[in-house]
Amino acid sequence: MNNKYIGVFDSGIGGLTVVKAIMEALPNENIVYFGDTLNSPYGDKKESQIIELAKQDAKFLEQFDLKALVIACNTADAIARNTIMKMYDTPVFGVVGPASKYACAISTNKKIGVIATTAAINSKAYEKAIKKIDENVAVYSNACPLLVPLVEQGKFTDDCIETKEILAGYLKPLLDKGIDSLILGCTHYPLLANMVKQIAPNINIISSSQAAAEKIKADLTKLDMLSDELIERQFYVSSNPEGLAKLANIFINNFNYEVKLKW
Ligand code: DGL
Repeated sequence: MNNKYIGVFDSGIGGLTVVKAIMEALPNENIVYFGDTLNSPYGDKKESQIIELAKQDAKFLEQFDLKALVIACNTADAIARNTIMKMYDTPVFGVVGPASKYACAISTNKKIGVIATTAAINSKAYEKAIKKIDENVAVYSNACPLLVPLVEQGKFTDDCIETKEILAGYLKPLLDKGIDSLILGCTHYPLLANMVKQIAPNINIISSSQAAAEKIKADLTKLDMLSDELIERQFYVSSNPEGLAKLANIFINNFNYEVKLKW
């Protein structure tokens, strides 16, 4: 047993989909979350900038008594994972690996689609992770820069025709290739899962947030590092805590935690 914190960081608010998945899979876990709202979004930044920011994020969380670190941001995991792993002795979990593994296991025609931010797609991290698992899988990717702002504006419900049209446009080239599985390779996209289902009812949809939580559960169980008591969950941001507190309900129903400013 180990009741120390799981530290989770993200470029901003979207990492709350990973926190939500962890809370559901592991309700006793003590979590400290850091969202770099000051520098969000990461998805349109250069790799060198993303690495520096991810290092700062991990350093902030290092001040807490952590038993594991989770890189919730797909963009940061895709680009800065190796750097972060070198900084830490504790287990470092990400989103790209678990989602890739799940997709390879579930795809029958070995054609997998990936949607993510521009930086994450340009890094080819998903492609590399999938090919490492099974080199016979064909990976078709598309960067979707308009989706994060649409989700943050709350425009992800069934009646948001504009979002649906934009999403359909992003998915079309992947569906035309005959993918049978699609990785939602961004913290925000699990909120678009219903819309994806309406556009492409016959494909498997893999949430990177969900896949990450399942991997964390499996590994912490194996390592006998699960917590047996929920003591607290803490939420920090690098700017505008009120903004995150307000938007957080989009990602976690009835979010009623205090959001604090990073010191
Ligand atoms: N958290 C980012 C990701 O999962 C999306 C938002 C951003 O671009 O920073 O890739």
